[in-house]
Amino acid sequence: MQKVLITGANGFVGQSLVRLLLTKGYSVIALGKGPSRLSVTHPSLQYFSVDITHPFEAQQVISHEQPDCIVHCAAMTQVDDCELLEKEAHSMNVEATARLLLDAESHSRFFILLSTDFVFDGLQGMYTEEDSVNPVSWYGHTKMEAEAITETAEIPWAIIRTCLVYGEKVENGRNNLFTWLRENLEAQKPVKVVDDQWRTPTWVEDLAIGIELVIAKKAAGLWHISGEDQYTPYQMAVVAADHFGWDKSLIERVTADTFTQAGKRPARTGFNINKAKKELGFSPGSFLQNLQHLQG
Ligand SMILES: NC(=O)c1ccc[n+]([C@@H]2O[C@H](COP(=O)([O-])OP(=O)(O)OC[C@H]3O[C@@H](n4cnc5c(N)ncnc54)[C@H](OP(=O)(O)O)[C@@H]3O)[C@@H](O)[C@H]2O)c1
Repeated sequence: MQKVLITGANGFVGQSLVRLLLTKGYSVIALGKGPSRLSVTHPSLQYFSVDITHPFEAQQVISHEQPDCIVHCAAMTQVDDCELLEKEAHSMNVEATARLLLDAESHSRFFILLSTDFVFDGLQGMYTEEDSVNPVSWYGHTKMEAEAITETAEIPWAIIRTCLVYGEKVENGRNNLFTWLRENLEAQKPVKVVDDQWRTPTWVEDLAIGIELVIAKKAAGLWHISGEDQYTPYQMAVVAADHFGWDKSLIERVTADTFTQAGKRPARTGFNINKAKKELGFSPGSFLQNLQHLQG
């Protein structure tokens, strides 16, 4: 049984991955900041409270557990927080990744970094793994640096970039676009949603499947794992409202310059996922298909 260590296990992606790996028979070492917020218990699951910005906390667990694979999901993920707290974002997203990689090189056999479409400038869209990065935010910059560090690994490595992840919220977790829409529209509250940013939205369960494929195949290199269809958040809101019968008149179509945000967002991202489809057998559902798995 493969032993997989996951950082950021209390997070949105981390929780979904923990659940999937347990159902697939993996032994899972979950690392999170503070107490466990995992909704599962399982004989093959261990949880450790680890602040990965601490110089030794993760090292102690990794050297003791000797995981076959490390999936590094933990990050400062809020774009505006990263812009306002540059030093903390660098410490978390870059320096902690560098230390974790050193630990992986000594005690593991495969290192996987979760990264983002925000490494791109958003001028082109539908990016392939061959396209050049050029982030427009500090968040994107820190993730680009983390990617560059990962690529120096002396053990096999993979970088999985994903894009606008949606799905059911985890316990005590933040809203994602879908749960934010549902919360507001069900309460009859109006929402302003941008229609000039393009993404390939990713159902969190599809992402977990993509990550597991990379683990199972020990598929080294760069992977774009997302949904296949390009949408703006406004288009997603309208499709979801149609599907669940929410009041569409509450959805106001706006442009990004309506909001004053500290961190710049790339306008047009989204991924071409042909490599993952062909080489991993990754096969995400369409946005509409995936809505059927969510509660309206
Ligand atoms: N969600 C998306 O749309 C999206 C899109 C593109 C890429 N990604 C990438 O996917 C990965 C996972 O994202 P996510 O959506 O799951 O984000 P998330 O829900 O914010 O999870 C990140 C986790 O990192 C943990 N963390 C923060 N600081 C830590 C520290 N010092 N020590 C240990 N853990 C710490 C957080 O702990 P607390 O919960 O206790 O704060 C959180 O559980 C990230 O690398 C992100 O860049 C996500």
